[in-house]
Amino acid sequence: MTEIPEHLLKRSKAAKAKADGAEGEPASSVPATTTAAATPVAKPAAVPAKAKAVIAAKPVKQDPPYVVAAKTRKKMPFWAVGALSMLPLWGFLYVRGMQPDIKKDTSPMGVGNGLYSSAACAGCHAADGSGGTGRALYNGEVLLTFPKIEDQLNFVYTGSSAYSLAGLTTYGDPNRAGGAHASSGYNGAAMPAQSQLTGGSLTDAQILAVVCDERYNLGGAMAKVTAGDATWTKEYNAWCAPTAQNYLDLETGTKTFATLTGVGTKPRATATG
Ligand code: HEC
Repeated sequence: MTEIPEHLLKRSKAAKAKADGAEGEPASSVPATTTAAATPVAKPAAVPAKAKAVIAAKPVKQDPPYVVAAKTRKKMPFWAVGALSMLPLWGFLYVRGMQPDIKKDTSPMGVGNGLYSSAACAGCHAADGSGGTGRALYNGEVLLTFPKIEDQLNFVYTGSSAYSLAGLTTYGDPNRAGGAHASSGYNGAAMPAQSQLTGGSLTDAQILAVVCDERYNLGGAMAKVTAGDATWTKEYNAWCAPTAQNYLDLETGTKTFATLTGVGTKPRATATG
């Protein structure tokens, strides 16, 4: 047996230890992690490539036809903006124009026509004047009772109870065709007083207006005026025409039933001639 010299053994040990240290370190930790991390890094590299293709395609994309149409068609003409902005005003005037403007008819006939309904006359005498709780006014009936408008004005002002209270058994023309009308002789009912001064709600001008409606519209006297009858035309012009002086005087307060010739505010036995 040959003995290996001591210094060679030491050199050999040192070389072995060095070799162990160099090989052992990479094998124990580093390779395990580096291989695992290397795989995911390689895969994502493919995705950005696709994304790049999509991004590259976008600028080439065409507008849909309706967008192209909207971009290329003519814009609204400048004058049309102003014209169209007036549409609501036009609509408002149109609707107003379609409504009958009752307030505008300030003539006695126009005012009276409205009052006949709103002042409840129609409730007792019917819308066409054919009567009900109250006597019939149409077909010339009211003209037979009151040949003169002054007497009808007086009667509507006072009401028929005032006649009874004054001891008068009839009102209107005592020689009326069909007989004089008795106070409270119709259905046992009375004609309510209409003046604001007798418990009613109407002014003198309003009483005249509604009486004009009863005589010339419901009663049928307008036909006589149209036919050229001198007596009826004279009465109409004085009391019920749009320019009738008596109506204007009552409206302005220049005159009242108390001061108007032939009317008066007290019930009376016979109709004025
Ligand atoms: C509550 C029911 C009632 C109301 C409302 C009424 N009347 Fe009368 N009217 C009568 C009655 C009832 C008579 C008959 C009077 C009598 O017999 O005394 C009459 C009679 C008359 C007459 C006489 C007719 C004739 O030929 O004898 C006139 C005109 C008249 N009324 C006008 C009017 C006017 C205008 C109004 C509305 C402002 C009116 N009346 C509202 C009940 C009514």
